[in-house]
Amino acid sequence: MRRLVGETTLRPRQLILPMFVAEGLDAPRPISSMPGVVQHTRDTLRKAAVDAVNAGVGGLMLFGIPATRDAEGSGAVDEKGILNVALRDLRHELGDATVLMADTCLDEFTDHGHCGVLDADGGVDNDATLRIYAQMAIAQVEAGAHVLGPSGMMDGQIGVIRRALDEVGHKDAAILAYAAKYASAFYGPFREAVDSQLKGDRKTYQQDPGNAREALREIELDLAEGADMIMVKPALSYLDVIKAAADISPVPVAAYNISGEYAMVEAAAANGWLDRERTVLEVLTSIRRAGADMILTYWAAEAAAWLD
Ligand code: PBG
Repeated sequence: MRRLVGETTLRPRQLILPMFVAEGLDAPRPISSMPGVVQHTRDTLRKAAVDAVNAGVGGLMLFGIPATRDAEGSGAVDEKGILNVALRDLRHELGDATVLMADTCLDEFTDHGHCGVLDADGGVDNDATLRIYAQMAIAQVEAGAHVLGPSGMMDGQIGVIRRALDEVGHKDAAILAYAAKYASAFYGPFREAVDSQLKGDRKTYQQDPGNAREALREIELDLAEGADMIMVKPALSYLDVIKAAADISPVPVAAYNISGEYAMVEAAAANGWLDRERTVLEVLTSIRRAGADMILTYWAAEAAAWLD
């Protein structure tokens, strides 16, 4: 009876696995604040990606960790940069068997850790950053990404990337816009995951956790600029924002079940305070119930196997 009348579905194809690949590693490096998640070598990334696709996940979202960084984040646009090289590996290995996505943002590649380049006063220079995002997007599509995930919250980023792609003929590349991205404390473990160099915070370009109306404005702007899918991030503290986005969005809505949300459950489960599998499935189901069509989650491959 419960199966017959259940309202919310949770299927493997709705889950996207974020993955980390680091330059110059000999063996995968565990991320201590995200037990079970690692920085991959190019080799182990390929194997883990194949396993995730075989488990049924709908897509992969790739983040790269370079060996060296500079003020402009030049490793992000370099075709030999770790993220572009790894995208090429995965596209070669997987072809069109999954939807391959790339994080289109500079924070992993800059020596100051911000999502854009800085101006003379040390603030993020929105428009100078857009020019680099355009090049980064083209490099990622040429390396094999099907979908770009601009996550830097620069104003105008979706329009600039869309025009740049169209101009060079990449009309089929899609954009998953991190439209409503909050300046969240829950990103903490991600900073370890990508060896982030960030000293300050991202409050000048990410959203204030108290603002919901602003999220809808960000979403409308990204839609007008050509977003093919939109995202709300983080997920659990923002289920109302996911719901509001789903109510108005003419395109698919994604939610990012982020590093801190993962770490909380893992820590409690490791202590025997929560039933891990039940909690994970309840978390993912609640994000779907709020209205997310797809969920980026570090549990994607494991949960997909449970659901199969
Ligand atoms: C920025 C980016 C971040 C995350 C994904 N893309 C970090 C930030 O904005 O500070 C966080 C993901 C997570 O915490 O799981 N490139």
